[in-house]
Amino acid sequence: MVKVFVTGATGAVGPYAVRALIDAGHEVTALARTDEKAALAKQFGANPARVSLFDAEELTTAFAGHDAVVNLATSIPSLAMFPFTFAWRANSRIRVEGSAAVTKAALAAGVPRLVQESICMVYPDSGDAWITESAPLDLVPIVTSTPVAEGNAQQFTNSGGTGVVLRFGLFYGPGSVQSAQMMGLARLHFGIVLGPAKRYMSLIHLEDAGQAVVAALAAPAGIYNVACEPVTKRGFGDAISDAVGKKQWVRGPGRLASLGGRNMNLVLRSLRVSSDKFSRATGWAPKYPTVREGWAATASTG
Ligand SMILES: NC(=O)c1ccc[n+]([C@@H]2O[C@H](COP(=O)([O-])OP(=O)(O)OC[C@H]3O[C@@H](n4cnc5c(N)ncnc54)[C@H](OP(=O)(O)O)[C@@H]3O)[C@@H](O)[C@H]2O)c1
Repeated sequence: MVKVFVTGATGAVGPYAVRALIDAGHEVTALARTDEKAALAKQFGANPARVSLFDAEELTTAFAGHDAVVNLATSIPSLAMFPFTFAWRANSRIRVEGSAAVTKAALAAGVPRLVQESICMVYPDSGDAWITESAPLDLVPIVTSTPVAEGNAQQFTNSGGTGVVLRFGLFYGPGSVQSAQMMGLARLHFGIVLGPAKRYMSLIHLEDAGQAVVAALAAPAGIYNVACEPVTKRGFGDAISDAVGKKQWVRGPGRLASLGGRNMNLVLRSLRVSSDKFSRATGWAPKYPTVREGWAATASTG
């Protein structure tokens, strides 16, 4: 049993991570910004801590006595606001200033391990080729803060700790706002194709992302992709439609997604991401190996 401090515990992936950690026998402290969120954290079985993500001094006190800090805090805008760089300011602040404060505090408190959330959507369009962690990055404005947070985890390792970065695929599953929106569209017979149909996407069910956080407690320092079997953009939409049991009458936006401007380039790319490095290092394997199983399970919850 180890003692883990989790930020972002009250978001989409956080509750899955907290439950998985507790089920694995660990003790969890969860950052909670309000009384309501503190009650929620208690409901998951975590001990709430009222502390600012941007105050390294407060965080140092809160982190004392923990064996690991897991930084899952994010503030991702809604699908409609996705193309607008200004809508990502809060998220950028979390990734730049928040991760710096978390890293500084974890070092000051003598916490030996830091797990930093990150994303796979930083890789360049790679067609049918598999993408590993050594691929170069191709950043659009809304994700320039991502390597900053990863760099802070690297600095944690350079300072003697074990910094683990989890580059997650696109989250989906119960609790994801975007998943609910996409299932709603599929129920209206809309086939969702996020870019050119034959390109690849890499996703991860929230439950599998939660289990990856547990596995990360035993991973050697480094950067790891965490995604299930990549799927074509057409296959992704088909899996949602089949999961909700509705035929597709129209499909989109396909290539029209490029009208959203440069930031939407992220959505159009072909990202066939390999998570072999993480599986080899930790033994982690997704419960939902493809989106077919994952969407079926998601749709069955409502
Ligand atoms: N890899 C991916 O595809 C990916 C990554 C991240 C998010 N998403 C998706 O995007 C949607 C929206 O995500 P989201 O990141 O906005 O919300 P979210 O997942 O609902 O919540 C993010 C977590 O970060 C916390 N947080 C946010 N700002 C904070 C701050 N300033 N200080 C401390 N903690 C802070 C939130 O706390 P509160 O509960 O107090 O707000 C919450 O616990 C979700 O449905 C999720 O599935 C996808």
